[in-house]
Amino acid sequence: MTELQVRFIPKAEITSELDSEIDALDKLAFADDGIDHDPEFSSIHWSEPDWMALGFVGEELVTQLCLPKREISVGTEKVWVAGIGGMATHPNHHHKGYGSKLLSAAETFMRNDMRVPFGLLICADETRPFYELARWQVAADLLAYHQDNERKLLRTCVMILQLQDQAWLAGEIDLCGAPW
Ligand SMILES: CC(C)(COP(=O)(O)OP(=O)(O)OC[C@H]1O[C@@H](n2cnc3c(N)ncnc32)[C@H](O)[C@@H]1OP(=O)(O)O)[C@@H](O)C(=O)NCCC(=O)NCCS
Repeated sequence: MTELQVRFIPKAEITSELDSEIDALDKLAFADDGIDHDPEFSSIHWSEPDWMALGFVGEELVTQLCLPKREISVGTEKVWVAGIGGMATHPNHHHKGYGSKLLSAAETFMRNDMRVPFGLLICADETRPFYELARWQVAADLLAYHQDNERKLLRTCVMILQLQDQAWLAGEIDLCGAPW
């Protein structure tokens, strides 16, 4: 594997040129996932992230993910999480370990820089093994989110990663905003 250089950049500081590259990779990676044909997902206005994690080989953007930070509720308690969204590796570079390396760097960043007790992501059942290799665990198959002043439910695989001593909480997960 050629050396992957990982950069964490606040979303607000992403240049329009880099933003176009991110958008192109996102479209390419998710072109076949059928999400646009699933009414539960196609109507979602996805959350804006706070940070982008970008993996480059030389000048080429090969893998990326976005990182929102949010206080959510689980059952009757509030808890801060960092999200992982839009995880995507360029199709020309699948199975080279780039995605795993970026996810691992994101884990360190969530723990040391974002300083949250948990990571949280949603994924299709098919991609679950990719996250399980990085020790993410299934926490639920349903969550609540908010959009257009409405509370909605989404049936999906919800995975969490414990980053500090605190154990995961019991109860329904409410993202208290848009999903990522
Ligand atoms: C999921 C994805 C990001 C993985 O990126 P990658 O850089 O190819 O991942 P890695 O090379 O680090 O994979 C490491 C291991 O994870 C597992 N893995 C990789 N991609 C997988 C996938 N799509 N589904 C299930 N397991 C996967 C494999 O065990 C792999 O080991 P192998 O290469 O020996 O088979 C990439 O397939 C992708 O962009 N898919 C399309 C977009 C998508 O579905 N993103 C996830 C949204 S939740």
